[in-house]
Amino acid sequence: MQLTRLRTLVPFTLAVCLGTTAVLTGENREAGADPVAAADATDPVAQDAAQTCVECHTERTPGIVADWEVSAHAAEGIGCDSCHGDEHTSADDVDEVFTVTAATCKLCHEQRYEEFARSKHAFAWAAMKAMPTTHFKPMELIDGMKGCGGCHKLGLKDGEEIARLKAEGSGYGFASCDACHTRHSFSIAEAREPEACATCHMGFDHPQWEMYSTSKHGIRHTLKRQGVLPASAQAPTCQTCHMPDGNHDVHTAWGFLAVRTDGLAPYPGESDEWWADRVTILQALGVLDPEGQPTARLDVVQGAQVARLSAAEFDAEREKMVGVCTDCHSQQYAEAELAKGDNMIREVDALLAKAIRIVAGLYADGILEKPEEYAYAFPDLLAFHDSPTPIENRLFLMHLKHRMRAFQGAFHNNPDYALWYGWNEMQLDLTEIESMAAELRSDHAQDD
Ligand code: HEC
Ligand code: HEC
Ligand code: HEC
Ligand code: HEC
Ligand code: HEC
Ligand code: HEC
Ligand code: HEC
Ligand code: HEC
Repeated sequence: MQLTRLRTLVPFTLAVCLGTTAVLTGENREAGADPVAAADATDPVAQDAAQTCVECHTERTPGIVADWEVSAHAAEGIGCDSCHGDEHTSADDVDEVFTVTAATCKLCHEQRYEEFARSKHAFAWAAMKAMPTTHFKPMELIDGMKGCGGCHKLGLKDGEEIARLKAEGSGYGFASCDACHTRHSFSIAEAREPEACATCHMGFDHPQWEMYSTSKHGIRHTLKRQGVLPASAQAPTCQTCHMPDGNHDVHTAWGFLAVRTDGLAPYPGESDEWWADRVTILQALGVLDPEGQPTARLDVVQGAQVARLSAAEFDAEREKMVGVCTDCHSQQYAEAELAKGDNMIREVDALLAKAIRIVAGLYADGILEKPEEYAYAFPDLLAFHDSPTPIENRLFLMHLKHRMRAFQGAFHNNPDYALWYGWNEMQLDLTEIESMAAELRSDHAQDD
């Protein structure tokens, strides 16, 4: 996997650092996708071209020009051609427009780019692509960026991937950086508000927006904006906790799937029971085979950082988070609250592992048959809703919808999500799965 393969870029010129106009031209464009260097701002031809873009586009796309006009870019003389190049100048040569990628932004914002490129966000496209379920869905939802791809498009894509997407008809969605400060205002104020995260961090399997906005933290933020609480009132946003000091390297200790190991050994200090449950979950994720041996999927998971496989890395992220809480709370308070989140994961793992073993037992006893696309006669949580039986679809819901809500609700201080939408739903799932399994066994016995 070439997730972090970054294209070699000619260092940007000093003129750009100083905030003068820069233009991308054909000479400094490399291999289609990434504009490479910025030319001298004082070039009269370049200034001419910038003028023409705005003039014609005031007619053609007035909304885009209006947004650009209020941007820091317009104020600093960064014109349309600074990002889109100057090779297209009329309705007849629109194909000559340069593709804007995060590497374009890097020309002038290197530090933020480097942070982003290390972040979990940078892996979003690759992590989505690695899921077996993406092969069974309409193209519009994946490469067309209307479903999975609509959120995961913020991940970095290399030149080859962009060329493939364009050839197959997906012409936009390559810039990554416009996910939080949207074009063409590229506003820092917009990116600082929790709404900037809401389009993606909501809904089915990661309702962080719903959980946060109705938590005490979120409510205080709302009341502060409404002027009910004074402007000095303390109210953390998503960015306070996940992008301290504006750091674009977004990572958490547990991550989405909330499975951790230390290499192939348990995370230090965990009970044997929890480890046994984790092994069962890793088997259902297809990362360990039914005998407990690592599979090819482990490489994928490692490559896109889908699981936490190092205690040292986990501890470093946790320490960072405690550092954020202690701006407002005592260290004891913060550590105790986070430990409750960890313990919640242990509790939900026990329920989930029990359900997985029930379904795995149906495969082992020949009551469920191995689907052709499965590697093993074992439930596959990453098949999502494309799993072939109702009992496995229920297991999928238990994992991706309800387990997520239970522990995410605990970390985001939302009692209703942790309890009713999370833990309680998991208990209902388990009861249903037990009952469905009994029925399948009894039908199977009658058939014999
Ligand atoms: C004489 C008019 C004219 C000039 C000058 C002009 N454009 Fe355009 N531009 C257009 C038209 C027409 C389109 C196609 C609009 C559409 O699809 O509705 C377009 C489309 C675009 C697009 C979108 C391409 C896409 O794939 O959707 C970008 C970006 C763009 N122009 C940037 C620029 C830049 C940068 C300049 C200056 C270097 C410039 N334009 C100069 C008329 C112009
Ligand atoms: C700071 C970089 C930057 C500048 C400056 C910039 N653009 Fe863009 N533009 C982008 C990005 C990023 C996209 C989205 C590309 C994608 O989705 O792959 C985009 C997309 C577009 C599109 C196609 C998408 C749409 O919504 O129709 C048009 C048209 C366009 N820009 C016109 C302009 C014009 C006109 C100007 C100058 C007034 C301008 N841009 C200045 C970065 C920039
Ligand atoms: C040719 C240089 C150049 C390019 C390319 C460029 N920027 Fe900028 N950008 C600037 C300058 C100059 C400023 C104003 C000074 C500053 O804040 O750094 C700025 C400011 C910003 C700001 C702060 C806005 C505010 O409200 O203060 C954001 C956000 C931003 N750029 C995002 C982007 C993104 C995203 C891209 C790529 C799509 C991009 N820039 C491409 C030069 C550039
Ligand atoms: C365009 C969609 C999108 C937006 C906007 C977005 N994210 Fe994300 N975020 C994602 C995706 C997709 C992932 C999973 C990344 C992966 O698959 O590697 C993710 C992952 C994360 C993670 C988990 C990191 C980990 O350890 O696994 C955090 C924390 C996060 N985002 C915070 C934020 C914050 C805070 C904002 C707003 C400032 C934000 N995101 C805006 C799509 C988005
Ligand atoms: C997950 C949301 C998110 C994404 C994605 C994102 N940014 Fe930002 N960006 C922010 C936030 C939040 C701030 C405000 C930071 C602060 O409070 O100082 C910001 C601020 C900025 C600024 C303003 C000046 C500064 O350095 O703080 C620039 C420039 C910038 N981002 C560039 C980029 C570039 C380039 C990319 C892509 C490589 C990018 N951003 C992707 C959320 C994001
Ligand atoms: C008060 C701090 C705080 C705020 C505010 C906050 N989070 Fe979190 N978030 C956490 C903690 C703590 C974790 C668990 C970290 C760990 O694994 O140690 C977490 C975990 C996450 C994760 C990983 C999966 C999960 O939910 O456990 C994502 C994604 C995320 N947060 C996104 C967001 C978004 C988006 C917002 C705003 C809508 C937000 N967070 C608001 C503290 C916060
Ligand atoms: C509404 C936006 C959205 C949609 C639609 C979406 N995702 Fe995600 N996805 C996210 C966010 C946000 C995260 C990170 C959540 C967290 O950490 O709690 C994520 C996490 C993931 C992860 C885990 C990444 C990791 O390494 O931790 C995978 C894999 C994934 N999504 C695949 C998919 C697939 C496949 C689809 C379509 C079937 C899909 N997503 C649909 C936003 C979305
Ligand atoms: C910017 C300040 C700030 C930060 C940072 C912050 N909090 Fe808070 N927190 C508050 C305020 C203010 C309240 C509401 C008053 C209160 O209950 O103390 C609150 C309330 C809480 C509550 C009680 C929620 C309820 O429903 O009663 C918990 C639990 C909590 N915070 C945990 C955390 C954790 C864990 C972190 C770090 C991941 C964190 N906070 C980060 C300011 C902050």
